Amino acid sequence: MAVPERVLTNEELAQMVDTNDEWIRSRTGIRERRIAEDDQTTASLATEAALNALAVANLNPMEIELIIVATSTPEHLFPATACIVQDSLGAVKAGAFDLLAACTGFIYALNMATQAIRTGSVSNALVIGSETLSRLINWQDRDTCILFGDGAGAFVLQAGEEKAGLLSAVMRSDGSGADLLIVPAGGSALSPSIDTIQEGLHYMDMNGREVFRFATRVMTQATENAVKGAKLEIKDIDLVIPHQANRRIIEIALRNLDIPLERCVINLDRYGNTSTASIPIATCEAIEDGRLHPNDKVVFVGFGAGLTWGAAVVVWSGAFPTRIKMVPGVIRVYARVRSVILRFLRRIDALIWGRYQ
Ligand code: UT7
Repeated sequence: MAVPERVLTNEELAQMVDTNDEWIRSRTGIRERRIAEDDQTTASLATEAALNALAVANLNPMEIELIIVATSTPEHLFPATACIVQDSLGAVKAGAFDLLAACTGFIYALNMATQAIRTGSVSNALVIGSETLSRLINWQDRDTCILFGDGAGAFVLQAGEEKAGLLSAVMRSDGSGADLLIVPAGGSALSPSIDTIQEGLHYMDMNGREVFRFATRVMTQATENAVKGAKLEIKDIDLVIPHQANRRIIEIALRNLDIPLERCVINLDRYGNTSTASIPIATCEAIEDGRLHPNDKVVFVGFGAGLTWGAAVVVWSGAFPTRIKMVPGVIRVYARVRSVILRFLRRIDALIWGRYQ
């Protein structure tokens, strides 16, 4: 995982909008969130998380065959943030694309990468959830600015002989709720103009109550369906790692599922809602806290704009040892030099051959 160092507390927010620490904590469970520095972006956080994940998996970036970045705050409309990460890692063999399913994106990406490995199309994949939501927030809108934070998390998936990894996945959507959580302008429906900027249409707009009602319903349903798909029962699940949006949503879903709170990872008090990054960040912390062990059966479950929702049941298999030892700092320098050389060669190529076209 990778999170910015800058912490924004509820008390600081209370000086910016009409809110207070007590309201935010009791209605959401959030105490503080991380905010990206000016030089940090979705791609830079994603790269940092990816390097950490590759170090744990002991996998050299040159061996990665697929990079999926799940994000709602891409570096640009295009190219894909995943391509910028590919360049920053020097992942010479990798196909790279972004996946947009809002906060459910990490679950979708996990499923897509697993299927690509299971069909034999690739033998490994890097799945990243990365966000700089602070850049899409209207800091005068108390409905949204209290909820979100920045960060990234990454998984390395590899083909293996043992029966582990993803057992089942549920992916669902309902576009009739598209307007409930939306950044209205900047795409093909409403291209950028002075008017869209003045009307604040490039910021996130949310109907919190409706999203809340939808979330509690689908978190329960998706978990039940994914567990059934894995031919398991709720009592077989060792740990639930839900999308970290609101503590009350998580508590209601757990109560409906009859799962005790002790079997659930909640860290939104320190990070807020980091969208696609929330599940991998919570997973990293569960490992660090000794709450997630090899062979544990885990449910990842989430929901988000779209509307989208989904769940995955996995057997956690931990890191696979591989041949090459990798050092993140060395990889960074190598990838940077490689990128500069490639850009330089492209210029020389254009100089020599450009005039003949
Ligand atoms: O990844 C998906 C992202 N989105 C979500 O997960 C959002 C899901 N929704 C929620 O988490 C909750 O609906 C919110 C946290 C956004 C709002 O909580 P709520 O309990 O649904 O509050 P509410 O909108 O029903 O508002 C209750 C009251 C209202 O005042 P009145 O009308 O009762 O006088 C609001 O004006 O709280 C007021 N309020 C606030 N007060 C202080 C709304 N926002 C704030 C605030 N600080 N930030």
